[in-house]
Amino acid sequence: MKVLIVGATGAIGGMILQQAVRRDGITQVIALTRRPLPNTSIQNQKVQNVIIPDFGDLETVPDETWEKIQDAHALVWAMGTYNLNEDVNLKYPLAFQEAFAKRLLASSENREGRSRKFRFILLSGAFVESDQSRWLFFLWDQRRMKGLLATKTLEFAEAHRDVWEALIIRPGGILFGGDAFLNRVTEYVFGTSLAIRGEEVGATVADLVVNGARQPVIENSEMVQKGRKLLQEAQ
Ligand SMILES: NC(=O)c1ccc[n+]([C@@H]2O[C@H](COP(=O)([O-])OP(=O)(O)OC[C@H]3O[C@@H](n4cnc5c(N)ncnc54)[C@H](OP(=O)(O)O)[C@@H]3O)[C@@H](O)[C@H]2O)c1
Repeated sequence: MKVLIVGATGAIGGMILQQAVRRDGITQVIALTRRPLPNTSIQNQKVQNVIIPDFGDLETVPDETWEKIQDAHALVWAMGTYNLNEDVNLKYPLAFQEAFAKRLLASSENREGRSRKFRFILLSGAFVESDQSRWLFFLWDQRRMKGLLATKTLEFAEAHRDVWEALIIRPGGILFGGDAFLNRVTEYVFGTSLAIRGEEVGATVADLVVNGARQPVIENSEMVQKGRKLLQEAQ
């Protein structure tokens, strides 16, 4: 399978990239970034880097770039910021879905029927709130904006259900640094519903790329369970 990762230069996207290249069944990984990936990330033969300089202006993306990516089976959207940036956290992912689906539907190969639906996997979060009227105690604007993105992503998949499916992952606080003492303490304090290691996120997402999921929304505890099992099996 060929998978696209948007946001692969980021902390979480980088973990997903690492696990995707290790995953059987994923034969090609294309990191879609606005700046070149560091050399350390592209040492694996499966990985290619395709640059989209401005995700806010997809009209300027040349046909040859779309041609390199439009036969992909899945896309992981791990681009995002920790502030209230409406372009990055709402407009870019929605515009990309529109533009990509348009290409998918237009290409003759796909019109004649793909063997499976295109799988769009959105990195969301455990604290993201889809209910736009609910009162929230902290970071209300950001959490609602990301909730709106999740809702619109699911609606988009429903509207294009013959060719498109969406999965929303909702990790809690992501821990980097593997089995470090502080990570073990944090896991103990917050439990499996609110904390998860980066490599567990990566392994879970790589598995979702290949196998999908029964439900479109995947919560932190399910990701921890699945990620741990997959990492143990891979040892
Ligand atoms: N940390 C957690 O526990 C957690 C849990 C759940 C969800 N999240 C969410 O996950 C998202 C990613 O987190 P992270 O820690 O991986 O962040 P990060 O390390 O800052 O990475 C952000 C990624 O988004 C890309 N990006 C940002 N603005 C962009 C733009 N204008 N155009 C193109 N690419 C852009 C960055 O590309 P460049 O490298 O080119 O800047 C990078 O690849 C955030 O929205 C965060 O809220 C985090």
